Amino acid sequence: MKRKLKVEAIENGTVIDHIPAGKGIRILKFFQLADDDQRLTVGINLPTHDGGKKDLIKVENIAFTSEQANQLALFAPKATINVIDQYEVVNKFNVALPESIKGVLDCPNSNCITHSESVASKFALRQNINEVKLKCHYCEKSFDSRFFHELD
Ligand code: CTP
Ligand code: ZN
Repeated sequence: MKRKLKVEAIENGTVIDHIPAGKGIRILKFFQLADDDQRLTVGINLPTHDGGKKDLIKVENIAFTSEQANQLALFAPKATINVIDQYEVVNKFNVALPESIKGVLDCPNSNCITHSESVASKFALRQNINEVKLKCHYCEKSFDSRFFHELD
């Protein structure tokens, strides 16, 4: 008999699947998912069908909206979001880049006003062939994702 290692199914909540191996922990920290009393199941370096590896996060009792899920797209552009209700997958969707991302990334421009005034950062996102450009709402400079220490 072939043994199969499995992460336990959840009754209600959201499964973020197909996260690139190594990004799962960063996503947990970045989105502060592990705060409070939130019950989570995390899989790291799980085998995929094609012989690769993936990370996976199960968040119990919260149904992610597509807007929330899209905030993950910078880290895990190929993630699938599965909403679970009474043990069934009732909704499955891919993440898409949001139009903007607020409050979570520091502007790489050290002269940007966001570093001296207490305003939440805000970047407009644009897909540029196979690269994402982030334009600061305040200093209006554009950066690709390599400039953000939070993302690497
Ligand atoms: N899942 C879960 N609890 C459930 C149902 C599903 O944790 N009650 C998880 C599965 O383990 C899987 C994900 O949700 O990681 C998606 O489930 P499913 O669509 O059944 O799996 P696949 O068909 O393998 O998904 P995909 O084709 O997107 O890889
Ligand atoms: Zn700026």
